[in-house]
Amino acid sequence: MIGRPRSHSSFRSPTRAARLSTLVFAAHDSVRVRRAQLVDAAPLASFAARTFEETFGPDNRPEHMAAHLEASYGVRQQARELADPSYITILLEVGVDLAGYAQVRQRTPPPCIVGPAPIELHRFYVDRPWQGRGLSQQLMSAVHAAAMELGGRTLWLSVWERNPRARAFYAKSGFTDVGTADFFVGPDRQTDRILTAPVLHVR
Ligand SMILES: CC(C)(COP(=O)(O)OP(=O)(O)OC[C@H]1O[C@@H](n2cnc3c(N)ncnc32)[C@H](O)[C@@H]1OP(=O)(O)O)[C@@H](O)C(=O)NCCC(=O)NCCS
Repeated sequence: MIGRPRSHSSFRSPTRAARLSTLVFAAHDSVRVRRAQLVDAAPLASFAARTFEETFGPDNRPEHMAAHLEASYGVRQQARELADPSYITILLEVGVDLAGYAQVRQRTPPPCIVGPAPIELHRFYVDRPWQGRGLSQQLMSAVHAAAMELGGRTLWLSVWERNPRARAFYAKSGFTDVGTADFFVGPDRQTDRILTAPVLHVR
């Protein structure tokens, strides 16, 4: 659980803040999409590790999952990412509950990404009770706004080839499949699909 949403004063420009706050109230009064702050590091780290494990735990060995969670999640790492200007992390809240989050970052893409000004959609998770209710679309709109704030014109991401729900969601969100990449869960090498979409102007 995290506290009530705060104002958007942390956004870098009032124009961009206004653009995201428009998204916030577009669909439902109790749904909020806001940029994560440093104080969100602990609840976000716990939410991020839990949702990763719930999504992929059944298809991975427990020791591989534990190694991955240890290496990729945790409050310190989360705080570092929140303080890093090349990342933007967005929270989706329903009432006082954290219902999802997304993270975009500036990172050199794989060679199959040829669009201009690429920005990686690094993480995109909606908690199970909130899946299939249209909230993922709201979070995706905020992802486009955040990518634009980072100067992006092309979004790219990697998704496990054995994650059909996410692949279906990204396909209907306008992403196309352009290649593959290795992804390691502990020592286990898996194959991700690389997807890309143009960054959309959101109002
Ligand atoms: C991926 C995720 C964000 C999508 O959000 P969502 O609210 O579930 O998305 P939607 O329900 O709008 O769309 C999912 C689509 O997959 C379809 N789907 C559901 N289960 C499926 C399955 N097993 N195989 C194929 N398609 C499936 C749904 O029917 C829906 O398509 P439709 O709208 O044409 O009917 C969300 O499920 C999630 O957070 N999953 C766990 C974390 C995750 O996998 N993140 C992505 C990491 S790259």
